[in-house]
Amino acid sequence: MIKEIVNRSSVRTYSDKKISDENIKTILEAGRLAPSWMNVQPWHFISISEQETKNLLYELSFCQNHVKTASHVILCLADITAWDDSKFRKILQSRGMADEQINNIFKNETLYPKLKGDERVLLRTVEQCTYAMSQMILEAENLGISSCVIGALGNELTESNQEIYLKLRNKLEIPDKVYLMSMITLGYNSKPELEIKKIRKDFNEVVSKEKFGQKFD
Ligand SMILES: Cc1cc2nc3c(=O)[nH]c(=O)nc-3n(C[C@H](O)[C@H](O)[C@H](O)COP(=O)(O)O)c2cc1C
Repeated sequence: MIKEIVNRSSVRTYSDKKISDENIKTILEAGRLAPSWMNVQPWHFISISEQETKNLLYELSFCQNHVKTASHVILCLADITAWDDSKFRKILQSRGMADEQINNIFKNETLYPKLKGDERVLLRTVEQCTYAMSQMILEAENLGISSCVIGALGNELTESNQEIYLKLRNKLEIPDKVYLMSMITLGYNSKPELEIKKIRKDFNEVVSKEKFGQKFD
């Protein structure tokens, strides 16, 4: 197995050392290259290093200290406009699809979630974004940079902390229909001597062979 999967764990204590622009761009590139439904890529990432913005993110995330002390915070935005007819059509055309095939996709509720409304689109968008987040934390680990995903924050999914969320949206000029889904704190571990044990459910509790509940030998 690739060592980053085994070695990565959430780190919440960061030193003062700043991550270089080159490394931040490599981590963002790992997100950009993630797979998505029909290649819709309904995401946007904002890299934050300014302390003033990190302080606002700290407030938004119910005062989680590692948000304030991280070298960088990557905001993962779910962009539901990526499914708009013209944008999605362009993506499908870039895959070499003929117009007739594309028009059929636009009539199919499974292939084109917009037919089921904005809430369904948001659900499918969030699904896509998690792949990008996953790739970014593994690439960070590859570069010797520690990370922590932050999902406890005010946004459209939690409907909490809306005043601070609105303040953040205005400050960062986030467009309509583009939602902050979650963030990743990044930095160098200030307490690497503390070995973090991976706590996971047993293999046979979460894995079956051929049918639910049937174990591997
Ligand atoms: C979607 C998501 C949201 C999370 N939200 C938070 C959070 O708000 N604050 C935090 O400190 N950790 C957060 N975590 C980190 C989890 O607590 C952590 O991944 C889990 O306990 C497993 O530990 P590990 O990452 O060290 O393997 C989140 C992780 C995920 C995937």
